[in-house]
Amino acid sequence: MPKKIRLGILGGGGDSLIGVLHRVASQINDNYEIVGAVFNPDFKSNMAFAKEIDIPTNRVYPDFDTMVEEEMKLPVSRRIQVFSVLTPNFLHFPMALKLLENGFHVICEKPMTTSLEEAKILQKAHKKAGTVFALTHTYTGYPMVRQMREMIKKGALGKIHKVDAVYYQGWINTIIHDKKKRSSVWRLDPKKAGISSCIGDIGVHAFNMVEYTTGLKVKSILSDFNYLYKDNKMDIDGTVLIRMSDTVKGVIRSSQVATGEENGLAISIYGEKAAFKWEQENPNFLYVLSDTKPTQVYKPGHAYNTKLSLDGTKLPPGHPEGIFDSMANIYLGAAKAIRGRKYNDGEFPTMTDGVRGMNFIEATVESHKGGNIWVDLEK
Ligand SMILES: NC(=O)c1ccc[n+]([C@@H]2O[C@H](COP(=O)([O-])OP(=O)(O)OC[C@H]3O[C@@H](n4cnc5c(N)ncnc54)[C@H](O)[C@@H]3O)[C@@H](O)[C@H]2O)c1
Repeated sequence: MPKKIRLGILGGGGDSLIGVLHRVASQINDNYEIVGAVFNPDFKSNMAFAKEIDIPTNRVYPDFDTMVEEEMKLPVSRRIQVFSVLTPNFLHFPMALKLLENGFHVICEKPMTTSLEEAKILQKAHKKAGTVFALTHTYTGYPMVRQMREMIKKGALGKIHKVDAVYYQGWINTIIHDKKKRSSVWRLDPKKAGISSCIGDIGVHAFNMVEYTTGLKVKSILSDFNYLYKDNKMDIDGTVLIRMSDTVKGVIRSSQVATGEENGLAISIYGEKAAFKWEQENPNFLYVLSDTKPTQVYKPGHAYNTKLSLDGTKLPPGHPEGIFDSMANIYLGAAKAIRGRKYNDGEFPTMTDGVRGMNFIEATVESHKGGNIWVDLEK
């Protein structure tokens, strides 16, 4: 077994939502060792958390800049190789940029940046650095999502004509209806979240899922947002019509005020021969619909699945794959790339996905603010 990849964590402290997912996922395939971190901007909490989870405290730093400076002083053989950027959105860009400029590999949370302009700067820096950049659109790591991508590539659906992606959550209901509360969370603060809440946080996952599974590019969009309150600057619900061509059309529906919904990401893809239906809350079942045959159900781990899908399962069929496994598959793909090994196309979302995502987010805001107009995405 080669040496483990030295991983540094930025954000993702004990108070965070996503930290535990990355920490566990990074360990699942035995590729990474967490050797340093700035889990939290408050040094005391940072250290306390490092002790709690038993990370060596000599490489737990007071802030990001100190961390990079100190790591650069270490010989390459001891230096952190890859950083996971798990902070609120506005810190992704400055952190990822500095990391790339200093030759580190980066695993970054979505949305990649807070603007398309930043995304393009990061893309240039990445090209120059030549290191690995993986964007954690977590749901692309599910075996059945990978199965859809590969089967569509091989023509299982024939010509696609309709795509319907939905991402409904209800959690912002507990915050948005209270004036005080809605001004206190970073996801509703444009300075910290960027120009969009609902589309930036979850609509962008649905958009990525559409392009990842179909292999098609969204060419233009028309959006309609709901802000619910005049003093709320951020969309908390958005419906987006999408056009991939004159004959391939669809819709991305996303909401943070869909009362009672939990993490309702789902996609339906309709083609001339068959259709796929998949739901994140039941990720081990991929339904193949037909007008002439009974519905089929594909499940992970069976030999009938494609290589990309099978590479993302570790146990025989019947052992459910969940969100930790899905994120672990992205970490696995990134590990192969960091080690300079061959990896499958689609094993982790890339810088290109990040730029596309920011283009989508900005276009939806432009469309809504322009009076629900059609806006073209860049080619
Ligand atoms: N891929 C997914 O499915 C998914 C799911 C949830 C969140 N996210 C993304 O992950 C990111 C974090 O989201 P979250 O819900 O965990 O946020 P959170 O507010 O729960 O946690 C943010 C963490 O970052 C830390 N932090 C803040 N400023 C910092 C700084 N200057 N230096 C170091 N650490 C700092 C905080 O202390 C906290 O631990 C966001 O960009 C979000 O969009 C992605």
